Amino acid sequence: MQIRKPDFQFFLIPLAVFLLFTGTRCLLAQETGRPWMNTTLSPEDRAELVLKQLTLDEKLALVHGNGMAHEPQWTMPLTHLSNGGAGYVEGIDRLGIPPLVISDAGYGVRSSGANGRYSTAMPSNLGAASSWDLDSACQFGEVIASELRAQGFDMTLGGGVNVTREPRNGRTFEYAGEDPLLAGTVVGNIMKCEQEKHVLGDIKHYAVNDQETGRFVVDSVISKRAMQESDLLAFHIALSIAHPGAVMCSYNRINGDFGCENPYTLKDVLKKDWGFKGFVISDWGGTHSTEKASAAGLDQEQPMADYFGPKLKQAVAAGRVPLAEIDDHARRVLYAEFLSGVVDDPPHKSVVDVEKGLEVAQHIEEKSIVLLKNNHDVLPIIPSRVHSIAIIGGHADVGMISGGGSAQVDPPGGNAIMPPGKGDTHWLDHVWFPTSPLKALQAKLPSTKIEFDPGTDLQSAASLAKRTDVAVVFAYQWQSEGMDLSNLSLPDGQDALIEQIAAANPHTIVVLETGTAVTMPWIDKVAGVVEAWYAGSAGDKALADILLGDVNPSGKLAMTFPKNESDLPRPTIPSPPATDDGQGTGSVNAGTRISSYAVHYDEGPQVGYKWYEAQQKLPLFAFGFGLSYTTYTYSGLSIDSSAKTARFTVKNTGRRAGTEIAEVYATLPKGADEPFKRLAGWKRITLEPGESQSVTVAIDPRVLETFDESKEAWNFATGDYGVFVGPSSENTPLNASLQVH
Ligand code: BGC
Repeated sequence: MQIRKPDFQFFLIPLAVFLLFTGTRCLLAQETGRPWMNTTLSPEDRAELVLKQLTLDEKLALVHGNGMAHEPQWTMPLTHLSNGGAGYVEGIDRLGIPPLVISDAGYGVRSSGANGRYSTAMPSNLGAASSWDLDSACQFGEVIASELRAQGFDMTLGGGVNVTREPRNGRTFEYAGEDPLLAGTVVGNIMKCEQEKHVLGDIKHYAVNDQETGRFVVDSVISKRAMQESDLLAFHIALSIAHPGAVMCSYNRINGDFGCENPYTLKDVLKKDWGFKGFVISDWGGTHSTEKASAAGLDQEQPMADYFGPKLKQAVAAGRVPLAEIDDHARRVLYAEFLSGVVDDPPHKSVVDVEKGLEVAQHIEEKSIVLLKNNHDVLPIIPSRVHSIAIIGGHADVGMISGGGSAQVDPPGGNAIMPPGKGDTHWLDHVWFPTSPLKALQAKLPSTKIEFDPGTDLQSAASLAKRTDVAVVFAYQWQSEGMDLSNLSLPDGQDALIEQIAAANPHTIVVLETGTAVTMPWIDKVAGVVEAWYAGSAGDKALADILLGDVNPSGKLAMTFPKNESDLPRPTIPSPPATDDGQGTGSVNAGTRISSYAVHYDEGPQVGYKWYEAQQKLPLFAFGFGLSYTTYTYSGLSIDSSAKTARFTVKNTGRRAGTEIAEVYATLPKGADEPFKRLAGWKRITLEPGESQSVTVAIDPRVLETFDESKEAWNFATGDYGVFVGPSSENTPLNASLQVH
């Protein structure tokens, strides 16, 4: 047989077209007198070319916001141009630089209700992190980016990556859990894919912003080593993956200085050590000074121009702020605009792809749900064996709850459980999506008797549970920015409801819709527990698929569930003293006054599972834990010390196909005297029944290093590192050592 030689025209024609196209763009850019529009130049070069053209006023316009829509106290002359978003930065029309039209978009685009639009809610960020799945993270970011652009926004305020030092933090659901490698990798992939769709990306809240109590004044006191090896490491990992255009500095103080005027975190670490070239944007109202903030590395005040407007201009005129500093701020904003593609490809309003969003949201939720308990295989529910099901509590007849604050996504049709007499949702409302698990189960099981009881009358709920084969209790816990939980108990008498139902029916399953860990005083009395998180726009369908076994659960906890609050590093969250300015939990501007209020993170790097291991406390459910409808075994660990990889075999020993998240942890060499493991890598492996797979996981060297405070430098110690492999942080049946010489 004669093999045909490749036809050169086949290659040459596209090449010629490509060269012609890029060449034309260069020429066009030159001819129009806008050389910065030449897309073959680097974002740095393009930013520099624009900067040279700018007047001082144009530079200054890039370094502050122009108010915030829907917030009367934050209105400025240009707020009406902001497309109903959180912030607006003027463009430079004469040079073809578009404005920044900014929206919150933690787990979906915010303010759809007030703006008359539609947005998909992804599962909460903590939920998505519990999938440990980078494809899901990417799709999460892509959907949000496309919906932002369809709605006319070109910058996102997503990207929360604060590690969970404090599980009662009201924003836990907006973050990706307690481990720097997992959180940084998941959030990095979300933001990478978001920005690749030409939305200027953001990572927040930098840094150590781990509680909402007194958030505008609290001083997070923490050693540099602990901060570097945990909190800052999560940011660094996320930044190294996403290369976002912006980093949002936080409200709180860090070792004395506010997050938005902190020379150590902003200048020394972020910009110098990590080489971050984008801009630092203040949290909303988190700017407290002109000269100090500018010198420390804040590049853009939001949402107003209180310090970076006329006051900054005066400071430049008086020589108190060097012009070079303004150039640096403006250059960074321009660089981020070119880097993210918003100059070359500005958004155009269009109709959101609703179906696509729902499909992705469902798929991610299916991977995020964590099966915590499954005695005697009470799950999945097998319709041929289960003829009647009681669905109890949690408004499961109507929908599922979501997380509040600036991350809130508005449900289609408004809040599914609108308090009487109210027409619209408010920041502190419990907002429910119209995703009824009852209806989803009924749709999938038309021949099964499924009855609902709201759970408000314990006797009636228990008597329904008694007459059915299986009882599923839905329990929720609501969280929001601006407030912390006082404890991790389920609210509204739900513990008592669960106890009562468990006493009535031995086949009681609890489905949790929570934004963080909850305590479970009833854990020994129920047969099954499923953590569904804030489940997003298609949570009902994903949950029904898991409960019925159409999808085998694979999620694993991205945070520890403690037995009770007394096991936490701080049994209670310290409150601001009454003698403070009285605004510890109040207004943003309270921070301008000096506060002595501090939270001391004396547990240092012992965040989450590291704390429990070091303190030898058993959690209720460990970091990395999650069951499946099948079972797996681990064997044959070998380490390649020079390649820094762990190789082992995982076998599906059950009767269903499933996906296992195999986790690899490391301990430092003996001399380091560190009593806990560090997550060093993981892999998701899909296995048919009986199938084995040999798995190689790279051990991330960044988590093996320690930060030497005296030298302000990282140290990679020589010696034998312990390597531990298994299904959770608490259960690592394989171990070996990795030699670093
Ligand atoms: C939050 C930020 C948010 C900003 C704009 C602040 O209250 O802390 O996360 O992006 O508001 O809405």
